Amino acid sequence: MTTKIAEEHRALDKLFATALDQLEAGDSECQARVAFDVLGEALESHLGAEESLYFPTIWALRPEFKDRLRAFIRAHHHFRGLIQEIAGLLDCQEMEEAMHVLRSLKHEFGRHEGAEEDALRSLDEHILEAESHSPGLPDGCEPTHYR
Ligand SMILES: [Fe+2]
Ligand SMILES: [Fe+2]
Repeated sequence: MTTKIAEEHRALDKLFATALDQLEAGDSECQARVAFDVLGEALESHLGAEESLYFPTIWALRPEFKDRLRAFIRAHHHFRGLIQEIAGLLDCQEMEEAMHVLRSLKHEFGRHEGAEEDALRSLDEHILEAESHSPGLPDGCEPTHYR
């Protein structure tokens, strides 16, 4: 799951860069809108998957991650608000302001991705540590080999 989420983050990074490049190029509002809509849909799909699939799985495995996961979901609501704000600005051809808000969304989302990946790494470490402490065979007992 850690790898899957990180891969989705890297794909979103590319979509953010494309949407921003299109807006900054300023030569086609239509192309910029298409790139932004592709980003918005991919972002919503990622946030939805985290909220309905990935996070509930983590929560079930490690209830102590609950507070961190809740904070991530609160941030998702904020990101959705910024996406709507940018869509509204693009609808009104407020390209400069849309670019400004998209830049700050890209920055904030990058930090959010980093925090999620840190949390997932520490979840993986918890699981590995728990596995290394799981009871094995008592000392002096060797697995039986049949010849
Ligand atoms: Fe997230
Ligand atoms: Fe994420």
